Amino acid sequence: MRVLHVCTEVYPVLKTGGLADVTGALPAAQIQLGCDARLLVPGFPTFFASLREQKLVFELPPRFGAYAIRLYLGSLPESGMKVYFIDAPGLFDRPGNPYFNASNQDYFDNYRRFALLGWMAARVAEGLDVSWTPELVHAHDWHAGLTPAYLKASEFWNQRPLAKSVFTVHNLAYQGNFPGHVFGELDLPSHFFGLDGVEFHHQLSFIKAGLVYADRITTVSPTYAREILRTENACGLDGVLQKRAADLYGILNGVDFSVWNPATDAAIAANYNVRSLAGKRKCKQALQQEAGLPLQDDKPLFCIVSRLAVQKGLDMVLDALSEIVRMGGQIVILGSGDASMESAFRNAAFANPAAVSIHAGYDELKSHRVFAGSDVILMPSRYEPCGLTQLYGLRYGTLPLVHRVGGLADTVVDSTEENMKRGTATGFAFDGFQYESFMSAVRRCFELFAHRREWQRVQRSAMRQHFDWETAAVHYLELYRQIAGHH
Ligand code: ADP
Ligand code: GLC
Repeated sequence: MRVLHVCTEVYPVLKTGGLADVTGALPAAQIQLGCDARLLVPGFPTFFASLREQKLVFELPPRFGAYAIRLYLGSLPESGMKVYFIDAPGLFDRPGNPYFNASNQDYFDNYRRFALLGWMAARVAEGLDVSWTPELVHAHDWHAGLTPAYLKASEFWNQRPLAKSVFTVHNLAYQGNFPGHVFGELDLPSHFFGLDGVEFHHQLSFIKAGLVYADRITTVSPTYAREILRTENACGLDGVLQKRAADLYGILNGVDFSVWNPATDAAIAANYNVRSLAGKRKCKQALQQEAGLPLQDDKPLFCIVSRLAVQKGLDMVLDALSEIVRMGGQIVILGSGDASMESAFRNAAFANPAAVSIHAGYDELKSHRVFAGSDVILMPSRYEPCGLTQLYGLRYGTLPLVHRVGGLADTVVDSTEENMKRGTATGFAFDGFQYESFMSAVRRCFELFAHRREWQRVQRSAMRQHFDWETAAVHYLELYRQIAGHH
């Protein structure tokens, strides 16, 4: 089946979060299953700089404020995955972050930039590239949310069926809402602006467009799929989601083992595997050295690799920091985002140079060294659609300590006595976003660390977990077949 993924980020070319890991790995896993998958992305400068074998597919008249519009096809370095990218001078040719300017403010014309993405997906589905027309279009997150709407608009205008669509919610809190009056610029049938369409409290909502017009909706873990049907977790979209509950599926993300494997990872100080953990000790020393922390091995080294955003619940870690330090723990933070949180961690590092170290910024290779060198990865997220870093933690024998929500609940098994006996424990999980619940998990973590043999047993079962992309790809394919009429 020919499948077009529509998204804004793809690892290894452009990544600001887990979305890129997904769009970098899922299409490749689908190809392994015999699917013919390609991607469509905005032509950000980095795609022009990185994609191979670029060729012009089609040139269209300007719209959405671009001076020209050209559709190119290229391929990802290494994997060779085919990627369509939209050259739109005036819209996408801006350096740095794809969504906001140098002062971290959303671009004022984001609705045009990402409308063009969805609009172009519908044109590709109509056959813009005569040699390749998708049978299924899979749109990711709000940026691609108008894709299903443009597909349905084309069917409405041309009275001919087009590719079916799947819309995946990677994070319901990021919605792409804009003043209602911009709807007039989007070239959608006027009746699409209404309560049963893209209107959301008099605004235009990209995510709602995806939720309303896609043939199926998915999100990235079974638990999050259930959570977002409840008003308190639905970010105002409970009505729409409940209406579509029968079409909503939770499919867990996976790990790209070719990128995340401590046995072969070239970025870490020493390789190791489930049978021989000696290399992990070297990685810990190397990380302590790199982070300017004293070498010690009798207490756990915690880490955070994360966007510094309210979602991630790191204010809880800040509150707990002095207690963790008092108990002898160390902590390495690799993160970027919220400036006040960044400076709070900086202050903590300044006050506790032997225990706390922060690297503020985004550094892919360093993230590998941090995962490999730490004992525990902290993820007290308020909510977590899936979360990939706890999966990388499991893979690297770095036990995740998580708030039991969303994908964290689906992937981490708490080290209770019973789970320890059964040999199923893989980390630490706490219920309820409260300081005491978090601290009691932290304390249990210190206790277990003091019993090395037990700790290593949990580490080994963590490393044996197999959250792979093939399983996810099979589930998506089943879903595609349901709607695209393939058997
Ligand atoms: P989210 O998508 O909500 O940010 P995920 O856990 O799904 O969370 O994915 C985050 C991805 O971004 C992971 O691949 C993680 O390693 C990476 N990441 C986050 N912050 C940093 C950072 N400061 N440096 C390098 N990689 C980071
Ligand atoms: C989002 C979510 C995260 C998820 C990622 C990839 O950014 O916050 O939980 O793992 O998308 O699906």
